[in-house]
Amino acid sequence: MNQVFKKISEKRRSINFFDTNRDVPEETLVEMVDLAANTPSSFNLQPWNLMVLRQAEEKERLRPLAWDQPKVTEAPVVLIVLADKTGWQEGHPVFEKNWEEMLRSGTMQTDQRDWFLNATQSLYNWSGDANLAFAAKNTGFFAMSLMYAATSLGLETHPMDGFDHEAVQKRFKIPDNYWIPLLLAVGYKKPGLELHPAKWRKSYHEIVVSF
Ligand SMILES: Cc1cc2nc3c(=O)[nH]c(=O)nc-3n(C[C@H](O)[C@H](O)[C@H](O)COP(=O)(O)O)c2cc1C
Repeated sequence: MNQVFKKISEKRRSINFFDTNRDVPEETLVEMVDLAANTPSSFNLQPWNLMVLRQAEEKERLRPLAWDQPKVTEAPVVLIVLADKTGWQEGHPVFEKNWEEMLRSGTMQTDQRDWFLNATQSLYNWSGDANLAFAAKNTGFFAMSLMYAATSLGLETHPMDGFDHEAVQKRFKIPDNYWIPLLLAVGYKKPGLELHPAKWRKSYHEIVVSF
């Protein structure tokens, strides 16, 4: 088990050059997203969505808004990863579905509704920053799962936050409840591409701090 994750985590790299002649089959993309859907989230609210860009015209529309990065048009699939800042609100369809599922599975009882509302509202309903943090942290975990899921299926990915948030939101008619943590290029490595050695990482001792 350990070794499986080790292999995936060491194999995943941000790939700049994709095979422009090899598409990602729809069923592989669905499997990738379904695997990533196992990501944990606060109260299981799963405040993430994806826009899937496959058409050349859509990717060409995106590229100039994303620092003109060639992988935006060269990768067969580009995902616009969306973080829903309102996913904790009472009445939100996912919030309510989650409540129903908790009742169905017996993890909550009807009379705990007030407790649940109070818990979610007190955590996320006190500032715009709290809304954004809720959306961004959960969707960040989801995005990482997407990348590892892709690697496990033999795909390559490249996350990008080099893009004009406002312009992408406007051009793709993305509603205001969403923040866009990243774009994710997905595809297969360009044939013959030699990767540079893996980049440096902070060590355990550089990561651990005390105050
Ligand atoms: C949220 C996020 C945004 C990134 N944005 C860009 C980007 O816009 N363009 C780019 O070339 N690389 C981008 N990267 C890739 C990083 O530079 C890369 O992950 C890092 O250098 C480590 O390399 P590796 O992913 O191959 O291990 C981004 C990575 C993350 C996680």
